[in-house]
This record gives sequence, structure tokens and C-alpha cells, in this order.
Amino acid sequence: MTHQVRAVVARGKGAPVSLETIIVPDPGPGEALVKIEACGVCHTDLHYREGGINDDFPFLLGHEAAGVVESVGEGVTDVAPGDFVILNWRAVCGQCRACLRGESWYCFNTHNAKQKMTLLDGTELSPALGIGAFAEKTLVAAGQCTKVDPTASAAAAGLLGCGVMAGIGAAINTGNVGRGDSVAVIGCGGVGAAAIAGANLAGAAKVIAVDIDDRKLATAEKLGATHTVNSKDADAVEAIRELTGGFGADVVIEAVGRPETYKQAFYARDLAGTVVLVGVPTPEMKLELPLLDVFGRGGALKSSWYGDCLPSRDFPMLIDLYLQGRLDLDAFVTETIALDEVEKAFERMHHGDVLRSVVVL
Ligand SMILES: NC(=O)c1ccc[n+]([C@@H]2O[C@H](COP(=O)([O-])OP(=O)(O)OC[C@H]3O[C@@H](n4cnc5c(N)ncnc54)[C@H](O)[C@@H]3O)[C@@H](O)[C@H]2O)c1
Ligand SMILES: [Zn+2]
Ligand SMILES: [Zn+2]
Repeated sequence: MTHQVRAVVARGKGAPVSLETIIVPDPGPGEALVKIEACGVCHTDLHYREGGINDDFPFLLGHEAAGVVESVGEGVTDVAPGDFVILNWRAVCGQCRACLRGESWYCFNTHNAKQKMTLLDGTELSPALGIGAFAEKTLVAAGQCTKVDPTASAAAAGLLGCGVMAGIGAAINTGNVGRGDSVAVIGCGGVGAAAIAGANLAGAAKVIAVDIDDRKLATAEKLGATHTVNSKDADAVEAIRELTGGFGADVVIEAVGRPETYKQAFYARDLAGTVVLVGVPTPEMKLELPLLDVFGRGGALKSSWYGDCLPSRDFPMLIDLYLQGRLDLDAFVTETIALDEVEKAFERMHHGDVLRSVVVL
């Protein structure tokens, strides 16, 4: 059996997205069909539409989603119809060299659905990050469904599926922020703001938010930044050093993805401190640093894909903290929109008006 549902499709490079009817097959072995309840609009969706990821058009966009499992294929035991789940793009294989050495957050062979979703004429769709959740229903590998407490709001929960998890994880997993640490976050969009919330959860004593937009700094304060720096008006490195006794922060998280902000992060950390790059650069960007400084300053320069998260470990834990009022996921939901408003949301994102627009179905 197949299902005809409405979905947001990007047909060609730079062309506005369109609302289309697509065909979703019933789940095969190891797959799950999920009825989507909410899906956030992430920068990566826009990258796909602009051809910045690859040329496999048409794309089925959307990947920060929560919903309810409608049916599962043969051999699926971890989730069942009726389960409330957050979709993830790290369904770990358990068998690759990363998984075998117990570091499955690096899994090099993550799973997606084997069957294809298609347009009505049979054209195969490429789901964004193997998900494709700006749709009434989507087909994923069962391992991409992480069961969480169903009393959580879908709009807030879905955000853990990508950007918010990336930011929180950059602080608590990759940066290993601990009690009493000083942390600076450069770039306070959805990802950076989440890194601030993560640093707080981990017990950081000082959390410095840096952005060029005062609106973002105001939200950062709401999420627990103890200090803010507008780096349009002040030198970010000087300001961070001044706020940390002249030394720099223990952990600096770069959540923009540009060489100039990376350099700020590099010099704004204390000797032996850690830099975490969670912002995603574009292919033409280059970084030049004195190698002696890389050596002489010691510490660790790390990058963070998806916040080094393990969905099965991190999603239920973060949803519990959310439900206890200790992690304000609702603060990331700037607006809720309908399925046919994704293009408008891209514009608002471009102007920096939102942390997240979330499609609610
Ligand atoms: N590593 C991952 O797994 C992962 C996952 C999702 C997103 N990302 C990436 O994280 C980055 C941030 O994503 P987002 O959703 O928060 O985007 P966003 O556009 O909401 O936020 C970017 C923020 O950076 C600020 N900014 C821009 N230039 C700056 C500068 N020179 N100095 C200081 N601040 C500056 C902007 O004002 C904005 O607040 C993107 O590169 C995105 O692709 C990474
Ligand atoms: Zn693996
Ligand atoms: Zn994303």
C-alpha cells in the first residue's frame, strides 16, 4: 500500500519550494512510517534548496521533526505504532569502526529508509538529511525514531532533531563543559542559543554570548547568558578576555561557521582551553593561523557534528529536563506556521527575525 500526502518539495537550485502531493510507501523491513506533527525550519533546508549540499533534486525538505509512528515494517522492535518520537539523522549502525570502539556518535554508516518516496509521476525524492519531514507523513529507518515522553509539545521536541541538539551537544558533549567553567558562544542563532542553554545545564559559572544582532543577545540572556557582547561595537576577543580575568574562556563555541569568527574563538579561549566549531563553513572558506599559536596555546580544537549526540541517550534526557522546566525549548519556537509557509520562513530566517519557525501540522 502507499500513501498520498502533501509535502514541501524543492525542485531546482534556488527555485522557491512548492507544496506537492507525494507518494510514501508502507514501511518495509527495518522502516517506520511517521505521521508528522511539527517540523522546524533549519538553515540546512535552505542550503539544500540553494544546491549548497548536492544536486540530487528534487529534495523533500524538513528534518527537525516530531510525530507519531503510524506503522512499522518487519523486524522493527524498538518502536511501535502510537509511539511519540523525535526523528534523528544518526541511526547508528552498531558495526562500523566508530561503533565498534564505543564511539557511535561518530557512526560512519548511519541508516535511512531503503525505499524511496516519489512525486506522483514516479520521480524519486531525496529527503533532507534522510528525513524529509515537511510532509504529513514520512518514511524513515526505524532507528531514526527516538521515543520520548508524549506529554512534550511536538513543536519544541522536534527541534532536538537537529539545530538545538547540535548546540546543546556542542557544549555538553563536544566541549565537555563542566561546573564552574567559563564559556563563550560566538553566534547566538538557534544553534548558539542552544549552546548557551547547554552550558547552563552543565553548570558553567560564566556564559558569554557574542553576536552582531541585539535581538539575538536578548534571547541569549533569557536562556542563561551571564554577559553579552555585541561584536559590531566591541572587539569580541578583547571583550571575552576582559570578562574572564584577562585570560579567555575555558570553552569557546563557534556557532557561525566563518573563518573570522573561528579566529575570534581561537584567541578568545584561555591557554589549554577548548574551541568547538559547530557552525558549518562553506567549501571555499580557508583558515590561516600561526602554527606556533596552535602549538603554543595547547588545549583542544574540535568540531561538533550534531553535537556529538546519541539520540537514544540524549533526546529522552533533554525532554525530561524540558518537562521539569529546566530546559526552555519553547524559547526557541519564535513562530508556528503552516506547511505552505516554508518559503516565507526562509525569508524571515534570512533577515535574522527568528530563532526557529516551526511548521505545525
Ligand atoms: N554542526 C551541526 O551539526 C549543525 C547543525 C545545525 C546547524 N549548524 C550550523 O550552525 C550555524 C548556526 O546555525 P543557526 O541555525 O543558529 O543559524 P542562525 O542564522 O540562526 O544564527 C547565526 C547567528 O550568527 C550571528 N552572526 C553572523 N555573523 C556573525 C559574526 N560575524 N559575529 C557574531 N555573530 C554573527 C547572526 O546574527 C545569527 O544570530 C550554521 O552554520 C548552521 O549550518 C550546525
Ligand atoms: Zn556505526
Ligand atoms: Zn538542521
